[in-house]
Amino acid sequence: MCGIFGYVGKRNALPILIDGLTSLEYRGYDSAGIYIPESGSVKSPGPVKNLRLKLPKKMKGTSGIAHLRWATHGKPNQINAHPHKDCKGEVWVAHNGIIENYQELKTKLVKLGHKFISETDTEVLTHLIEQYLKKDGDFEKAVIKTLRGVRGTYGMAISYRKEPGKIIAARMGAPVVIGLGENENFIASDPSPILRHTKRVIYLNDGEIAVMGSDSYNIYTLDYNEVKRDVEMIEWGLDQVQKGGFPHFMLKEIMEGPEVIKNTLRGRLLISEGLAKLGGLEAVTEKLRSIQRIIIVGCGTAYYAGLVGEYMLEEYAGIPVEVEVGSEFRYRKPVMDDKTILLAISQSGETADTLEAIREAKRKNILTLGIVNTVGSTIARETDAGIFNHAGPEIGVASTKAFLSQLTALALLTLFLGRQRQMSLVTGRRIAQKLLDLPQKLEKVLADTKYIKSLAKKYSKYKNFLYIGRKYNYPIALEGALKLKEVTYVHAEGCGAGEMKHGPLAMIDENFPSLAIALKDSVFEKMISNIQEIKARKGKIIAVTYEDGKKEVGPLADVVCIPKTLEMLSPILSVVPLQLFAYYFAVEKGLNVDQPRNLAKSVTVE
Ligand code: G6P
Repeated sequence: MCGIFGYVGKRNALPILIDGLTSLEYRGYDSAGIYIPESGSVKSPGPVKNLRLKLPKKMKGTSGIAHLRWATHGKPNQINAHPHKDCKGEVWVAHNGIIENYQELKTKLVKLGHKFISETDTEVLTHLIEQYLKKDGDFEKAVIKTLRGVRGTYGMAISYRKEPGKIIAARMGAPVVIGLGENENFIASDPSPILRHTKRVIYLNDGEIAVMGSDSYNIYTLDYNEVKRDVEMIEWGLDQVQKGGFPHFMLKEIMEGPEVIKNTLRGRLLISEGLAKLGGLEAVTEKLRSIQRIIIVGCGTAYYAGLVGEYMLEEYAGIPVEVEVGSEFRYRKPVMDDKTILLAISQSGETADTLEAIREAKRKNILTLGIVNTVGSTIARETDAGIFNHAGPEIGVASTKAFLSQLTALALLTLFLGRQRQMSLVTGRRIAQKLLDLPQKLEKVLADTKYIKSLAKKYSKYKNFLYIGRKYNYPIALEGALKLKEVTYVHAEGCGAGEMKHGPLAMIDENFPSLAIALKDSVFEKMISNIQEIKARKGKIIAVTYEDGKKEVGPLADVVCIPKTLEMLSPILSVVPLQLFAYYFAVEKGLNVDQPRNLAKSVTVE
């Protein structure tokens, strides 16, 4: 949700800034802009490609800041594009977040004679810094004084025309990482644009600023105390943040599924003991023995992973589970005792609502765990313990491979907690073995995607879809519908197949197709009845089934087969045809699959 990038060094800043924005583009594409102190600024509504068209042949300068916008305050137009400037065009700010008291600050600044040109909350920052600079011209101090007076969230890159050899980063509630190179340093919202330059990074904490020159960096708190922090190494390789020959990140990431599952499982299964070995939970292992309730919190796809986790954990670990979206959890009064833990699921580790749910639980002294993909992210750092997904960077805005890794991590957690309780050795071994078999099975699903592509083409003229499933595959119906909505803008609704007759069935006719997950498992017969109900209303059906279910499902639907696995693990395979269906559908419609309109990858505002 908005991307910021900054460079200070010895090289020509322009191509580095543009490259940085391109790698961050999944964070926002309402507008893009850059500022280079020695040359000025260029901004444009729309994605980075629009900005590229406006760039003059030469812009010289060895430092600069850049921004991609996901609009909150003010329309996504040229005027509101970042970086924003003060009255004199000397102080420039690229900001991700929301300044909550901007109206009040703006009123004061206007009275002091400042002229505002945009509708954004961000612009108050530039004028405040300008105001403080009037006192003694000290850039760092002016930034710190400004930040002490603002309420809200920010990840920021700041540049000052009079000091082109310096850029300042600041963080409060929106991610900021600084990259440390040879004779050059970087600021970014996440490590992906830094990777091609350096693997050495420092994640800023809330309430910190970093003052960066080409050969130096200093981190301060807002009390102006210097902070010493260890440098971390990014694990990801550059190839992981590039498309690697695929037309879109979404397809590349779906195709990475088998590797992702292997990476999530690597070193974590003890087959003969039927155990999961989770290093990230070691410190809390004893505490976990006595927990009696788990609240899972997530947003979007991560929330649906949590719903699958609820079925897994209740069935195999015998622990009562509730699942809630972060935006609801944080504003109600959840009843929790010291036997309750909160498990947050988040690919980015930065989703504001999920993060606030964790903070609320911590205020109540509840143990918090995370299933997080991004090492170094805020959620990873603020939870007490957790499991990293190891899915590698996910760039496509619609989450695909991260979902598979979240489900795999939940299965590992189920095994871990189940074996601490009543789960037998035999069941433990069985789950462990079936987990290990998954990558190979998924490879079969991915070996031939032509049929799914042809189905996407066949159904691409329809405007409404119903997705149905039961038990473990009920959340998959919700996730399948979400994928279609996200990337094709077509209306899709997911529902528990048993609930269909309580409303959604009324919509069904020959123009309203359904996708059913009908695997030969404990709810197969019920699913067949539900499919019959749709068929009886002339509804067309696509069904995901196992080979051995083809006999029953085949006469009723267009059938996609997946290999058989344990019911608990089936969502890890059944969701993939639905991801591919949404992908090919969007491609068929000629849409921007990796960057759906109005959405952003990492939602760092409420
Ligand atoms: C955004 C993304 C979704 C994602 C959700 C939660 O809406 O577009 O794909 O599922 O945020 O993100 P998280 O990073 O917390 O998993």
